[in-house]
Amino acid sequence: MAESEPVWWQRGVVYQIYPRSFQDSNGDGIGDLRGVIQRLDYLGQALGVDAIWLSPFYPSPMADFGYDVSNYCDVHPIFGDLATFDELVEEAHRRGLKIIIDFVPNHTSDRHPWFLESRSSRTNPKRDWYVWAEGRGGPFRGRVPSGCRSSGGPQSMAAHSSPPNNWLSMFGGSPWEWDEATGQYYLHTYLKEQPDLNWRNPEVKEAMLDVMRFWLDRGVDGFRIDAILHIMKDPALRDNPPNPGGRIVLGNPPLPEYDSQLHVHDQAHPDIHRVFHEMRQVLDEYGTKQPRMGIGEMDVFDWRVWAGYYGVHLDELHMPFNFGLLRVPWAAQAVRGVVDSLEAAIPPGAWPNYVLSNHDVPRTASRVGPAQVRVAMMLLLTLRGTPTVYYGEEIGMTDVPIAPEQVQDPLERQLPALGRDPERTPMQWDPSPNAGFCPPGVEPWLPAAADYQPINVAVEREDSHSMLSLTQALLGLRRSTPALSRGSYQPLEPASPDCFVFLREHDGVRCLVALNFSDNEQTVAAPQLGSGSIALTTHLDRRGEVHLALLELRSNEGCIVQLAERG
Ligand code: BGC
Repeated sequence: MAESEPVWWQRGVVYQIYPRSFQDSNGDGIGDLRGVIQRLDYLGQALGVDAIWLSPFYPSPMADFGYDVSNYCDVHPIFGDLATFDELVEEAHRRGLKIIIDFVPNHTSDRHPWFLESRSSRTNPKRDWYVWAEGRGGPFRGRVPSGCRSSGGPQSMAAHSSPPNNWLSMFGGSPWEWDEATGQYYLHTYLKEQPDLNWRNPEVKEAMLDVMRFWLDRGVDGFRIDAILHIMKDPALRDNPPNPGGRIVLGNPPLPEYDSQLHVHDQAHPDIHRVFHEMRQVLDEYGTKQPRMGIGEMDVFDWRVWAGYYGVHLDELHMPFNFGLLRVPWAAQAVRGVVDSLEAAIPPGAWPNYVLSNHDVPRTASRVGPAQVRVAMMLLLTLRGTPTVYYGEEIGMTDVPIAPEQVQDPLERQLPALGRDPERTPMQWDPSPNAGFCPPGVEPWLPAAADYQPINVAVEREDSHSMLSLTQALLGLRRSTPALSRGSYQPLEPASPDCFVFLREHDGVRCLVALNFSDNEQTVAAPQLGSGSIALTTHLDRRGEVHLALLELRSNEGCIVQLAERG
């Protein structure tokens, strides 16, 4: 059977933009959509990515920086307006760039009009749009004691029976918030300002599918679907069992309280497959002329379970996000283990994806260290599957220490040391004050890195050996080499356990990727492959013919070799 031609989201490389931090165009210290438009030439022409994913830009009280949406069909004024969004789509498309937007289906803001109605009375038609439940002691009938605030703290809970079950919030404590006025608890998997929608209510589902249609009508090419497994819970709200291994199942850094349970009832109820299928139908209806896609955010590390979210007939998510490399110990065999297990589990015809960092986890350069950051980028851009590059990763941005008085992230306030501000600091564009993110004299919403003067786009563009030059070269090579963008993957046994070596092949053209994860020189011996020419090394300083009986790798070096055609 002839192999089908890959579509844009399979061929291309995605670049994640956290809009608050990318480019401020109006001098308020917060990035915005006009700022993204101003940087499209950089993304499309200079850097050479294929699609951008925008984290939320919707109206929001910003309790969780936009992941608490109060209107799904508009743009928050700090980011612009719908006309600016339309312009962004048009300008991106004119440059051949696709637009993926964040869709947050599990929860709204507690200020969303739907929730305001829902909490107004037990008989409101929207009551059932959210997950309301009685406490363990049954319905609360008495007067709420004065002074009992709905803080979710242990004292207020004690005053009106205990929460409906033992579930835990991802952000710490119980996910059940007592509502004094109506005498029931509502569920919030994240902050109490983020009540969970009830996807079992058909009206909710339709309203949310309509949100997808609203943006598809405006021309978006796809959705990154937030916290997607949480939308279907056990309808009986049964307790989660304890996690017997006590092993960390989630989180980097770990979330010890959340990890104390197996999350079998608060997420991923089997009914979720039906919803994924319905979301897919919406995308497919719009996809006849211009293919659209959905990638679902999930922390699933059992690759068989993960692969199930493509759907038995590949009719659910286009891709479940693969977070395997976000948490793996940075060692050659551990990384290879993730790739091999995923490759073994993925169904025929389904397309993988990889990511090394995002707005919720430490940046790659901080996690793997300066010596390995180039190897990490070469890995990301040569594996079989769609890579997502987090903004600033291309120049080697690191996490920025945030002083207590500068903390913005609510997670840091709830669970100190878990805050995500360090990886959300302003994009480093040039050596001018505020790194070119916002005008001099304006205070950016988070401080720019101390090292922004050497580490920024303008300086690195002038340096042919910079991290940016490496990223550009990798993107260019991937684009011009079908073996790298769409070829098969085959791991090779390296002589040293510190190396990860694999072949990518398409149409008889083969590329060898050899990555040295150690500080020592290593030798890769693959005499059966004959000879080839070095297409790129992470050190950006050598090319030329090599025989694969003896490929020498310097410390922390990665190398791509284009193999001679089989004669
Ligand atoms: C997003 C986080 C957000 C959470 C709640 C996540 O998975 O990536 O940034 O805090 O969902 O919406």
